[in-house]
Amino acid sequence: MNNHDAKSKGVQVEGPKGKLGVLLVGLGAVSTTFVAGVEAIKKGMAEPIGSLTQMGTIRLGKRTDNRVPLIRDFVKLAKLDDLVFGAWDIFEEDAYEAALHSGVLERDLINDLKPQLQAVKPMKAVFDQQYVKRLNGTHVIKASNKFELAERLIDDISEFKRMRECDRLVMIWCASTEIFLQPGEAHSDMKKFEQAMKENDPAIAPSMIYAYAALKAGIPFANGAPNLTVDIPALTRLAIDQSLPICGKDFKTGQTLMKTIIAPGLKGRLLGLHGWFSTNILGNRDGEVLDDPESFKTKEESKLSVLEYILQPDVYPTLYKDFSHLVRINYYPPRGDNKEGWDNIDIFGWLGYPMQIKIDFLCRDSILAAPIVLDLALFLDLAKRSGMRGIQEWLSFYFKSPMTAPGLYPEHDLFIQLMKLKNTLRHLRGEELITHLGLEYYD
Ligand SMILES: NC(=O)c1ccc[n+]([C@@H]2O[C@H](COP(=O)([O-])OP(=O)(O)OC[C@H]3O[C@@H](n4cnc5c(N)ncnc54)[C@H](O)[C@@H]3O)[C@@H](O)[C@H]2O)c1
Repeated sequence: MNNHDAKSKGVQVEGPKGKLGVLLVGLGAVSTTFVAGVEAIKKGMAEPIGSLTQMGTIRLGKRTDNRVPLIRDFVKLAKLDDLVFGAWDIFEEDAYEAALHSGVLERDLINDLKPQLQAVKPMKAVFDQQYVKRLNGTHVIKASNKFELAERLIDDISEFKRMRECDRLVMIWCASTEIFLQPGEAHSDMKKFEQAMKENDPAIAPSMIYAYAALKAGIPFANGAPNLTVDIPALTRLAIDQSLPICGKDFKTGQTLMKTIIAPGLKGRLLGLHGWFSTNILGNRDGEVLDDPESFKTKEESKLSVLEYILQPDVYPTLYKDFSHLVRINYYPPRGDNKEGWDNIDIFGWLGYPMQIKIDFLCRDSILAAPIVLDLALFLDLAKRSGMRGIQEWLSFYFKSPMTAPGLYPEHDLFIQLMKLKNTLRHLRGEELITHLGLEYYD
């Protein structure tokens, strides 16, 4: 789609016919909370709290026009009744058993949804313990090289689509955080990438094999973890060549969500920052995986970049040069999925007088992540039907480390991200973009 063409007439978007299959890599706390949530909402047992696609509205035209439809009535999104779920995991547990294990939702709710959850049985995973040191599972595909593993995933995808009679599919990485990898030669173009897969090059992580399989199979891909995954030239190019939308990385929940709410406010009012210390305790499997220094490094990089980009120390040296920023995650089993995150923020105001802000966020990670998975599934499907391809920057709203075009710095401010998302929807429908200038009200 040419961005300028849509201005007056909008983009031709095919309606969402038939079923949309949501393929989840990893059937752990986030995935099962998402699937159970959608099933509960479909049965009228709960409301889709936290989901922009289900509860959000969008203002159109002038403030005096009173046109504020629900987003789901404004753009052609798949309906919850048309969603079906598939997954891969290194453990054989179905979504019912995995949801019980994850300890996020109450047992009664999970039991009420037992048949729907039992229907989601994980396919065998592509896994290598070298990339997630703290896990070891047996429900894995065996093949002689990484290219063959990708071929097996592509077969699984087409079998799932046939068996579940899906019209369209999307894939979302909700599996454990892999060790820190940097883009290298093997990731630079498709020829080298495929060669590296055939040679079992360690530069090719399992998450990249899933992303490759999705894109080869014609499926949009989102990355909910901080792993490199689809954020490499070979795969971003493949997405463009295949006319597929992709987005990532790392769902923006918990402490980083709070950072991207508070930091733009401090900067807006030109309050300075001496330091921001963040620490967490959590006791779920994600916490256990992140207890490994190599997986933590991937997460830490993702969490640390946010403040630098929002506060722009180069542009505001008096306020933000050399602030300290520390992030800690402590694996503490008694807390399970109910994380507690503390922030101590040392700020300064008029004449340099110091002040402090303390945050104690008793949050539920997967409760915050599940509506993000839903929105991404529906928006990626919309993007594909709208002919949008490559990195979808308008979905940065959902990520801690938004993917961007090479050389472009990411926008982390949650409110700018939301404005960008809604303007993209207006653009798709040929509505005026909202600039918030508003001079016309005073003419
Ligand atoms: N919950 C949040 O708020 C949040 C926020 C941002 C990012 N994330 C990320 O989302 C991911 C999922 O989080 P979670 O709390 O559900 O973790 P989890 O440990 O409960 O679930 C992850 C699942 O992935 C499986 N898995 C690992 N490697 C796999 C592979 N190669 N193929 C298939 N399955 C594999 C594991 O066996 C596990 O069941 C993590 O990477 C986490 O860092 C979560």
